[in-house]
Amino acid sequence: MTIARTCRQSLLAVIVVVACGSAHAQADNGLTRQQAYARAAALEALGRQIFSDPSLSASGAMACATCHDPNNAFAPSNAMAIQPGGKDGRQTGFRAAPSLKYLQAVPQFSEHYYESEDEGDASIDNGPTGGLTWDGRADRGNDQARIPLLAPFEMANADEASVAAKLAIASYAGDIKALFGDDVFADPTKAVSAATKALSVFEQSAADFYPYSSKYDFYLAGRATLSEQEMRGLKLFNDEDKGNCGNCHRSERASDGSAPQFSDFGMIAVGVPRNRAIAANADAAFFDLGLCGPLRTDLKGRDDYCGLFRTPSLRNVALRKTFFHNGVITSLRDAVAFYATRDTDPGRWYPHNADGTVEKFDDLPQRYRANINFEPPFGGKPGDKPALTDAEIDDIVAFLKTLTDGYKPATP
Ligand code: HEC
Ligand code: HEC
Repeated sequence: MTIARTCRQSLLAVIVVVACGSAHAQADNGLTRQQAYARAAALEALGRQIFSDPSLSASGAMACATCHDPNNAFAPSNAMAIQPGGKDGRQTGFRAAPSLKYLQAVPQFSEHYYESEDEGDASIDNGPTGGLTWDGRADRGNDQARIPLLAPFEMANADEASVAAKLAIASYAGDIKALFGDDVFADPTKAVSAATKALSVFEQSAADFYPYSSKYDFYLAGRATLSEQEMRGLKLFNDEDKGNCGNCHRSERASDGSAPQFSDFGMIAVGVPRNRAIAANADAAFFDLGLCGPLRTDLKGRDDYCGLFRTPSLRNVALRKTFFHNGVITSLRDAVAFYATRDTDPGRWYPHNADGTVEKFDDLPQRYRANINFEPPFGGKPGDKPALTDAEIDDIVAFLKTLTDGYKPATP
């Protein structure tokens, strides 16, 4: 990743002053560059501790790391579609916990997103794009971190004051004071902001969150060779008439040379099946409509946005055990097969009605189904030849496995 890219679009950046300034620049709070680096390092170390501290939850048993396992690309390491939480550890929301890696590249949410010239064609309106969470409703790491601390089905603190009270007796309370002032705990909002700021600086740590150390990164750098099958998978991934995956999950370097993120962060409706294992879905009238609600509230009533979710990066996707925003698909091969056969064999994915017809797109009310994407590899009708054969699906899966960080190249 280049510094230019960080400066332009990073959501999580708190230390941009340091990263973007010239050698002589002073950070805006009057620190020298060296002091600013030291402060950023101290914030990162604090954020790392907060991230793994279960005492910050109402149950005393749940930390950020419980759902975002640092040893599993900051994604869940268990196979549950929805991670339980809350006061008694048994409450559930209705979304899969994403990996927290490579979020530094997510642009702020915009309804009309234009790429920079470095990235592509700057004249095209890509529509709603970016923002953190599946519906893009949080624009900064520190805004986002408030959500799980207070959500009743996550860390379940009643209010900011109860988070602040827990921070004040944490083993790192002294570090918070040293960084944010001795009176930081006098004001709960200040104390929580200090913690969320530290978390967002931690989430900027390149070694932890964006190492670009997959086999594919080494391949791009000329230091690893893809197997024949991985190579076929890469071609199919990019081929506009076959996988067409690269259209949304970008696999090529931007023209400024920055590494591919495997997402353009666009908001798209792919129409995944309803996950009937989610408690909220027992209510037939309940739908998670993504951009138009219920978790996101500012675009309520925008019918053209219902069913849209943010395109996730596919880096480290092979470490996931459930896929898509509701975790309904439970193997990587099925996730790829879903794309190839959603329209040519819908009975494989959606439930059957009593009369034998298939209830396609059962997780989106009829009136929003026009929002669903039909570009390749989607399209066709039942009985048509799918865009990808079984062998081609296997090839794409083999390629996706090259996107896992921590590859050790043969030659140093
Ligand atoms: C109970 C499980 C759980 C816990 C605990 C949890 N998260 Fe999450 N996290 C999720 C889920 C689920 C989402 C997706 C939420 C959505 O789309 O509305 C998410 C989303 C995120 C995102 C946005 C990811 C993206 O792709 O845009 C960030 C950043 C994040 N969490 C950080 C944290 C931090 C920091 C903490 C601790 C303060 C935390 N999470 C605690 C489950 C959890
Ligand atoms: C038109 C844009 C688009 C295209 C083309 C596309 N995807 Fe996606 N992809 C998305 C979006 C949006 C999601 C999230 C949708 C959701 O959860 O509702 C997603 C989710 C996924 C996931 C789940 C990841 C996770 O973290 O849960 C996988 C795997 C995936 N895509 C692989 C592929 C492959 C392989 C191809 C090509 C065969 C492909 N995608 C083509 C937009 C696209």
